[in-house]
Amino acid sequence: MMGNPMKSWARLLLAALAALAATGCGLDGPQSGVVSDGPVAHAQLQTFLVTLWVSIGIFAVVGGLFLYCLVKFRVREDQNLNELPLPDQGHGNPLLEVGIIFVSILLVAVIAVPSVATIFYMGEMPQGKDALVVRVTGLQWWWKFEYPSLGIVTANELAMPQGKVVKFELASPDVIHSFWIPRLGGKVDVMPGQDNWMWLQGDKTGVYYGQCAEFCGESHAFMRFRALVLDNTDFDAWVANQRATAAAASPPKELSDNGCYTCHTIRGVPGAQGLVGPDLTHFGSRLTVGAGIMDNNKENIKSWLLDPNAHKPGNVMYKAGYQAMNITMEQGEADKIADYLTSLK
Ligand code: CUA
Repeated sequence: MMGNPMKSWARLLLAALAALAATGCGLDGPQSGVVSDGPVAHAQLQTFLVTLWVSIGIFAVVGGLFLYCLVKFRVREDQNLNELPLPDQGHGNPLLEVGIIFVSILLVAVIAVPSVATIFYMGEMPQGKDALVVRVTGLQWWWKFEYPSLGIVTANELAMPQGKVVKFELASPDVIHSFWIPRLGGKVDVMPGQDNWMWLQGDKTGVYYGQCAEFCGESHAFMRFRALVLDNTDFDAWVANQRATAAAASPPKELSDNGCYTCHTIRGVPGAQGLVGPDLTHFGSRLTVGAGIMDNNKENIKSWLLDPNAHKPGNVMYKAGYQAMNITMEQGEADKIADYLTSLK
């Protein structure tokens, strides 16, 4: 049953490679860190590649020498280890030792120079460029985005003008999150009591995936968002739409019946001024539901409304709303609310 051990290893290696391929570890996924669509991601990628190649070089040299010695100086089949003479007991080789120290220092310098340069590059706002400020608040488990200069408040989906610098001011009221848009750059911790910031620039229009990158509670993995990089015309249209109030001013009574306004704002709807949960003013215009975890369509909204805890365990809407206030959403109610929310473009 044992079989040839070499063959078992070969089979194991093959299985491991197949498993790796099956995970879909491609390099161009929406959250890929090796695709860079802006200057920050580009600088970070270059720094990473320098470190990677230096590491691969060290691995190849050290691993190669190791393998060479293993094979070259192995005990042959016709030899007995106990009868072999001791090797020369020299003190070493000064030239080799100094050489290794020198090469190590050189390699550290090769890694350190671009790393430090990138840290400084990211740590200063680019000179001579106007930056759009976006205030980011990390909450359990969703993102609040405010544009103070534009009077916009939104959630889980932000827009960035193409080719322009955006300064993200990062804050959290309670736990630590981390703000990350893999293809544009990141990541910087969003911390209570510590006002961090970072700048990013999107050079190509498109939809970018964002993800909280610091464990922040049981639904940390479901704390996602989307960043839309829009050309000037589309960005202006987005701003104009965000600033307008929602079209439908007469919401179904199911919203107030279920206490939705306690936590949510819908501008233009009297009494809907809650600040605990995401601003829903333009909910229907967003791509996703539940902070980036599902497509924004009626089925998913209904499914969320009927059982938010199933989608995002431990969320505040469930704990402080449904559970604390003893709310059970009926199919018919969810249907009406979903219809209304979808209409809020
Ligand atoms: Cu927020 Cu993890």
